[in-house]
Amino acid sequence: MTEVLEFTQNLGDELLVKRKGLKSQNIEHKGLHDLVTNLDKYSEKKLVDFLGELVPKSGFIAEEGTSTKLGKEYNWIIDPIDGTTNFVHGLPCFAISIALQQKNKTILGLVHEMNLRESFYAYEGGEAYLNGNLIQVSKTKDLNQSLIATGFPYSDYGKTDPYLEVFKEIMQKSRGLRRLGSAATDLVYVAAGRFEAFYEYGLSPWDVAAGGYILQKAGGLVTEFSGKEDYIFGKTLIASNNFVYDELKEIINKYF
Ligand code: IPD
Ligand code: CA
Ligand code: CA
Repeated sequence: MTEVLEFTQNLGDELLVKRKGLKSQNIEHKGLHDLVTNLDKYSEKKLVDFLGELVPKSGFIAEEGTSTKLGKEYNWIIDPIDGTTNFVHGLPCFAISIALQQKNKTILGLVHEMNLRESFYAYEGGEAYLNGNLIQVSKTKDLNQSLIATGFPYSDYGKTDPYLEVFKEIMQKSRGLRRLGSAATDLVYVAAGRFEAFYEYGLSPWDVAAGGYILQKAGGLVTEFSGKEDYIFGKTLIASNNFVYDELKEIINKYF
């Protein structure tokens, strides 16, 4: 864990410096509103090289496709910059997200939010930590005392209407809604008790694998909208402190 932590923190610091030199020709569109920069690719290449050497014969599920080779026993699930739109616009919330799976079971998760230099992590045999200190989900039981995070759809617009219905209802029944722009950070903020819950659809494994594991280790509950456990590949996600899960799921399932 220590080696991965140190490497990721240094990479985060390097990306913050390099971000200042980002030019419009370094930014491409992968989809209509889906951005990628040369620094996403740079970060992923550095991570793949380092982690591949750290665990020989390990494979990768990585957003920018630096390596697509899967390992028989170990696989890393990587988002080299989660929150690229924030990164491009200079908005301070973006993170590196790394999970390690052994035979499809997650055994390590790290989300490093670069601007605040906050590293959230968990590993098999340990608990969940933020910069070395134990973290736990919030104990709040009522949705009306809860702060909820979400992500706005920016590709699958076919589900915009149900999404907005859920948004309207939660806006009225909770203390407030936030959209940080980094799903990995949303998840670890639930783990640290800053949010009571987070929900979004249209997610990918690299957005959620590390954060979901850290959240579970901090006492939280994370499932697909349907309640199924496979949140990593399931594309929809409800993450919570446990206590507000049922109420949130009921609202989401009314519309989805
Ligand atoms: C995105 C962020 C965002 C979420 C999107 C993700 P990216 O990841 O996590 O918060 O709303 O669904 O794709 O593209 O910045 O790595
Ligand atoms: Ca992402
Ligand atoms: Ca990304």
